[in-house]
Amino acid sequence: MTTDNDPTQLAISKAADEARKVAEKLAAVNSAVAPTTDIVSAVSSLERGLREQVVSLSQIGDIAKDISRGISAPLEDTLKRIQSLTTPIAGVGDEISKQLSVFSANTALVQSVMQTTRDLQNINAALMGKNSGFQALLKELGKKREFVGLDAIKVANISRQTIEANYSANRESLEAAALEAKLASETLDMTLPVDGVATGTVHPISQVMDELAEIFADMGFAVATGPEIEDDWHNFTALNIPETHPARAMHDTFYLAGEHERPMVLRTHTSPVQIRTMTSTPPPIRIIAPGRVYRSDSDATHTPMFHQIEGLVIDKGITLGHLKWTLETFLKAYFERDDIVLRLRPSYFPFTEPSAEVDVGFTWINGKRVIGGSGDAEGGGWMEVLGSGMVHRRVIEACGLDPDEWQGFAFGTGVDRLAMLKYGMDDLRAFFDGDLRWLKHYGFSALDVPTLSGGVGA
Ligand code: PHE
Repeated sequence: MTTDNDPTQLAISKAADEARKVAEKLAAVNSAVAPTTDIVSAVSSLERGLREQVVSLSQIGDIAKDISRGISAPLEDTLKRIQSLTTPIAGVGDEISKQLSVFSANTALVQSVMQTTRDLQNINAALMGKNSGFQALLKELGKKREFVGLDAIKVANISRQTIEANYSANRESLEAAALEAKLASETLDMTLPVDGVATGTVHPISQVMDELAEIFADMGFAVATGPEIEDDWHNFTALNIPETHPARAMHDTFYLAGEHERPMVLRTHTSPVQIRTMTSTPPPIRIIAPGRVYRSDSDATHTPMFHQIEGLVIDKGITLGHLKWTLETFLKAYFERDDIVLRLRPSYFPFTEPSAEVDVGFTWINGKRVIGGSGDAEGGGWMEVLGSGMVHRRVIEACGLDPDEWQGFAFGTGVDRLAMLKYGMDDLRAFFDGDLRWLKHYGFSALDVPTLSGGVGA
């Protein structure tokens, strides 16, 4: 730089300002992306025109081709400045300017193409890269130093710097805009209704077992369990079930194949848990034992697997009166009625003596059995719900206890049957069908935890 008043220097500054303005325009670009085919065809028509019209100036034609590849408004501007600044190139500049007018109609398109970061990067590479038209232009201008003049080269260099600075500023703003657009498109509408969540239900059997455990817990009974694959000593022998008892027959009991120390069976009732408790826990004992049991039986009212609940009390001075009170209290709580009437009918179980079947009174109302009241009343009847009795002294002895010191009672009943009676289900087999419609209808919400204070019913 010689002096500030040097017309060449002033021209250079002016050109640089112009180039900066172009750069600012570029930075302000923000919206739609133009169809590239439009630009490509504009470029090719420019190229065609240049080929036709700049035949004699083949070297400059080459530069123009590079420019057309660059598709750059700032570059066009730079060329315009070169054209206005340098006399020797003026003639050539006229030819080029004619063709640039083809471009000017597409300026908007060119600008909009530059609106995305990717396009901007591509254009920048085309403009500034090693193989770019711009570099080729600089080279050509350098070669023709005396022809185009030093000023033009300076202007071109200033333009390049401006474009580069503009490129990075533009890229940042474009990236920020892209991020903003992305965030806007990912907005969550918290006011939209949520998709329904499929919830499962508690199977009626599980619910009833929970209810039973709850009722007996209030009377001081703990829950005991035993194996479903049981040996015949626990399932039969210790329970005073003689060799000749029909329950031991193959057609009633599932025996396990193979050699075992003791014959193994799928337990036919929950009573072996009585034995397991008495042989492992010192009395007094108060337990219930809910669980699965198996019998070789299958029809409308029998399934090969079903559920029982066992009760056992072992203490000193236990009488039949304790048994009756316990069952009455339990049944009143379970059926949620105070008018439950029990009838103890003499019966026989090998492991209890005396034994009693327990019936509850019901009344027919609109063709339905409604539990409550005496079964002997007008329109009433009795329904068997439990087997029970005082624990046989042989069973107490088999467990290593002295039957003169310890007495007790036991009872057992079918959980499936209790569930059917309380919730009005009429086919036992439906319990094990896994039909979701049935389960949805009779199942219980997982939140319906049975409690005596809150009610045990659904
Ligand atoms: N275990 C008997 C049954 O399966 C029921 C029962 C249990 C009877 C306890 C009396 C005492 O039928």
